[in-house]
Amino acid sequence: WSTTAAKVDGVLHVGGRAVPDVVAEVNTPAYLLDEEDFRGRARAFREAFADDAGWDVFYAAKAFLCTTLAQWVVEEGLLLDVCSGGELTVALRAGVDPARIGFHGNNKSYAELRRAVSVGVGRIIVDSFHEIERLEQITADTGRTVAVMVRVTPGVEAHTHEYIATAHEDQKFGFSITGGDALEAVRRVATDPGLELRGLHSHIGSQIFDSSGFEVAARRVLALHARVAGELGVTMPEMDLGGGFGIAYTTQDDPSEPADLAREITAIVDHECRALGIARPRLSIEPGRAIVGPSMCTVYTVGTVKEVALDGGARRRYVSVDGGMSDNIRTALYDADYSCTLASRRSGAAPVLSRVVGKHCEAGDIVVKDEFLPGDVVPGDLVAVPGTGAYCWSMASNYNHLLRPPVVAVRDGELRVLVRRETEDDLLATDMGAASE
Ligand code: LLP
Repeated sequence: WSTTAAKVDGVLHVGGRAVPDVVAEVNTPAYLLDEEDFRGRARAFREAFADDAGWDVFYAAKAFLCTTLAQWVVEEGLLLDVCSGGELTVALRAGVDPARIGFHGNNKSYAELRRAVSVGVGRIIVDSFHEIERLEQITADTGRTVAVMVRVTPGVEAHTHEYIATAHEDQKFGFSITGGDALEAVRRVATDPGLELRGLHSHIGSQIFDSSGFEVAARRVLALHARVAGELGVTMPEMDLGGGFGIAYTTQDDPSEPADLAREITAIVDHECRALGIARPRLSIEPGRAIVGPSMCTVYTVGTVKEVALDGGARRRYVSVDGGMSDNIRTALYDADYSCTLASRRSGAAPVLSRVVGKHCEAGDIVVKDEFLPGDVVPGDLVAVPGTGAYCWSMASNYNHLLRPPVVAVRDGELRVLVRRETEDDLLATDMGAASE
């Protein structure tokens, strides 16, 4: 739960407001964003990975982005990592200084790159020889130069879901270190007059708790960094270790504090640099989930409750809510674990093992696989799911023509709608048959 979330008389409060009271204004489903919590986490990362200790922190916009939040990110001293033309547009519309933006992605189009170069983004992280070619052409055509990081694949098996692990060889991201592409990419960037080689980038995956993956990645990337200095005579000023720091979705997870992460990672890098006899480059990280994830919860209204018999005589209770896989695809996609609580009232009823499901026409439409909810949960009750700030709204869809829920910031008892609920007119806005009527 976010830092200001607490129950008073059984009723969940966030940001100084009772959740039923918020729902009376904005309805359900809704994402509630605890502004103080978000800013606190952003600040904790900025303080732990401090500027004067040689660190930069890029907030990974893919976790969640809207213009207001981009402004908060800047106000808290972070930079911004975007990975598509669309995210870049939101950042620019928010007024983020392009020099504070890093541009990611494994298949950036010519048009996206050209725009990034012409607005003056701070750095572009290249991921393929085709992108390097595109940038060579764009900088030659425009007479501009651009700072480039080269994303490499350190060959690490991160301990996370297969779909969100990104540093083993057999996946789409980065230049392989062992295969030799990484060194070749660095050479290409270093020798092109339009490209300014800043350093190497690696991102091992997401929702990672075990720092050994970072350790191996840092060791391999620094070894390449030293090799580039030795073989190409080029000293790169920077290095990025990506994001991926895990958060607690349930009480089973035990994430590290930013200060501890900073201490651990700095020690690893310092140790390796000493061993390699090189100066430590300026470092950056790109946390998304660890900043925004815990700061939101999703509030749903219970619509139906039913019990089914399982083999062996046990029973499972299905609690259907008014959203589902369209506002949180993570359970269906990654078999992710979530928890939830009855948010609208106190209940003395004995807890019953429940499965919270959505309203989509799909059996896999599960929000929370297993949770003990009071046995007297009835339609109209509010259920809140914590930890939905990252990769929920940002991966939301209109499946079954549901409307995407709003993102409502709550702080000191005040509500602010950052993203409004979609309307049925929004749904039909791109339907040309409807538009022509
Ligand atoms: N940097 C790069 C290059 C990335 O690809 C990512 C995430 C991040 C930073 C931020 O990672 P974070 O700190 O948020 O873990 N949709 C998945 C996660 C995919 C992450 C993609 N890249 C999920 O819901 O778990």
